[in-house]
Amino acid sequence: DNYCVIMGGGIGSRFWPFSRESYPKQFLDFFGTGRSLLQMTFDRFAKIIPVENIFIVTNEQYATLIHEQLPELSVSQILLEPARRNTAPCIAYAAYHIRACNPNANIVVAPSDHLILKEDLFLKDVSKGLEFVKQNRALVTMGIKPSRPETGYGYIQSSGVMADDFTKVKTFTEKPNLDLAKVFYESGEFYWNSGLFLWNVNTILEAFEKYLPDIATRFDMGKDKFNTDEEVDFIKENFAYCLNISIDYGIMEKADNVFMLCVDFGWADLGTWGSLFDIARKDDQNNASLKSRALLYESSGNVVALDDPGKLAVIQGLHDYIVAEADNVLLICKKEDEQRIKQFVADAQMKF
Ligand code: GDD
Ligand code: MG
Repeated sequence: DNYCVIMGGGIGSRFWPFSRESYPKQFLDFFGTGRSLLQMTFDRFAKIIPVENIFIVTNEQYATLIHEQLPELSVSQILLEPARRNTAPCIAYAAYHIRACNPNANIVVAPSDHLILKEDLFLKDVSKGLEFVKQNRALVTMGIKPSRPETGYGYIQSSGVMADDFTKVKTFTEKPNLDLAKVFYESGEFYWNSGLFLWNVNTILEAFEKYLPDIATRFDMGKDKFNTDEEVDFIKENFAYCLNISIDYGIMEKADNVFMLCVDFGWADLGTWGSLFDIARKDDQNNASLKSRALLYESSGNVVALDDPGKLAVIQGLHDYIVAEADNVLLICKKEDEQRIKQFVADAQMKF
């Protein structure tokens, strides 16, 4: 059977100050459609995966928000993490839980903060991937043709060796520095990791045993408790001992059975202001003002976002900047330096 795991526990700090730890971006309705990014993610998968097989993994801090936004999910479909440990422990937890429900589950793991423009193609590719991992002991990722040397993504090098429509992956490099990203981008052999993964539950658990044995051992201690009344207590006592590491660094960079499906379903990672700028509607000077009132003079390439529709931004002589204001925080930052926003958030929290 097919299962879906939506990872919804990130804090989206590169989208600060709109995205806050108490209300991260996946819960925001960026486009005024009435559905948050998380809800849109759920809606998409519900078209091809039985709703009772869809799980959300998130920090316990967001339990109420998830119940409010997705009332169709039962309590048992929301897996709560008592500590922030990044995506590897999140994925391990979901895999142990799902294996206890179905020892042969095929799983698609998805971020909760992406936009997919061509939904039909997306659903076709997900179905194709689920079929592939049912037949093959493969860790599958969906690759996107890169359009710039972005440093916030993982880069997948294709080997050119095909199995059905899937390419064996030669190397996987998470968040390279700019020089390396440029080399990857220019070579034409590399794809961006979309952050969507597919695998059979046994394949990913074998990978944990091999590459993140401490995490596997920790969860193995409670393997009979998953999907029982004892699961929550076991997680409360053990989860925080897991290594804090993303699945990309922890497994995808190391595994030798990674395959990629090259996709083109209008993927947009709303990871940063720049990515939002890329897909937003622009004025004739190439500025994007998101749901905000702004007057711009001799300015180009900026993204302006004010959370209060009553406010007005007047900007002159500014190029390629982020101007974002929310909850008493004003951020003015060069678009090309947006990866540093994570650090700014940490500094602001420490100092104020
Ligand atoms: N449950 C849970 N717990 N979810 C988490 C946690 C956590 O501790 N940390 C992050 N997430 C969720 C986020 O909410 C997001 O939906 C997803 O996991 C990915 O985390 P990000 O923090 O957004 O990762 P990233 O953007 O730096 O990098 C990943 O995505 C890129 C594409 O968007 C990597 O997979 C890259 O290789 C990839 O290119
Ligand atoms: Mg992201």
